[in-house]
Amino acid sequence: MKTILIQLDTDPLPSSFDRVVAVDAGVDKLFCYGSVTPENVIGLVHGAMFTRGPADLKNTAIFVGGSDVTAGETLLQKVIDTFFGPVHVSTMMDSNGSNTTAAAAVLALGQHVDLSASDVLVLGGTGPVGERAAQLLAREGATVRVASRSLGRAQTVCDRIAERVPGSRLAACENDSETTTNNVDAIIAAGAAGVQFLSQDIWSDIESLKVAIDLNAVPPVGIEGIEVTDKAADKTGKICYGAIGVGGFKMKIHKAAIQKLFTTNDAVLDTEAIYEIGQELLND
Ligand SMILES: NC(=O)c1ccc[n+]([C@@H]2O[C@H](COP(=O)([O-])OP(=O)(O)OC[C@H]3O[C@@H](n4cnc5c(N)ncnc54)[C@H](OP(=O)(O)O)[C@@H]3O)[C@@H](O)[C@H]2O)c1
Repeated sequence: MKTILIQLDTDPLPSSFDRVVAVDAGVDKLFCYGSVTPENVIGLVHGAMFTRGPADLKNTAIFVGGSDVTAGETLLQKVIDTFFGPVHVSTMMDSNGSNTTAAAAVLALGQHVDLSASDVLVLGGTGPVGERAAQLLAREGATVRVASRSLGRAQTVCDRIAERVPGSRLAACENDSETTTNNVDAIIAAGAAGVQFLSQDIWSDIESLKVAIDLNAVPPVGIEGIEVTDKAADKTGKICYGAIGVGGFKMKIHKAAIQKLFTTNDAVLDTEAIYEIGQELLND
């Protein structure tokens, strides 16, 4: 039986990026819909639920995407709420690459440090990628500093993560306060495209710093001196990754997650589940 991926995009034009990855992941048929909202999605989900028998439902899956991550989260919830009993198809959410990028960044970091014993600063930690990276780090037992231009926004993110990850060690901080980088073991810069947070002379002088990961590919990069293609590059004794250096693994995670959708009819691949798929890839 042919595999069918139903791509529900919150933008008017369904993402070409997500379509290419679906094809490369081996999906047989791809149905793409744009401007999908919680109001108009129910019929599309019913179309996935009621067309194939229970044993064949695992050959149909749903992907939620689009540039607006909050809209994607709301849409994912509506899709899940529309399923009932065993009449379910597997679903993945990766609006704006938020889940796959955060997973790839944290897994790259975990190759070099013991996350559970690390103090990690997430710059731009209030964005969709930063918040997810901070959440995954907290689950791994890291001490996490969530940084923002606004202490209040950083605190809101910390509070949300603390609810999802009981016992997590989180601290809200400002991007550029003097103490933000004190004794930090690692930095993930997840700020908006084209925003630089750290100059090279500052981060190369942080004695405790072992790993620096910058997810911003648009000049100026988020951490000065990191090249977008850096992948475990040694710079002044620190291990560095740039956006493309992380992006290769992010693509592998995305493809593997699409493939995983077709192994069962009831998976929901969101932040943690996508991270676990990345872990499996590393262990293979
Ligand atoms: N490599 C990849 O494959 C890949 C995939 C997806 C995304 N990305 C990159 O990952 C990064 C994070 O993505 P995202 O969607 O989470 O980013 P985002 O929402 O656009 O921005 C993240 C945070 O940056 C801060 N920010 C915005 N403008 C700023 C400014 N002018 N000065 C200082 N801080 C500013 C904001 O925090 P506050 O307002 O709280 O300060 C915002 O919450 C981006 O650079 C994106 O391009 C890479």
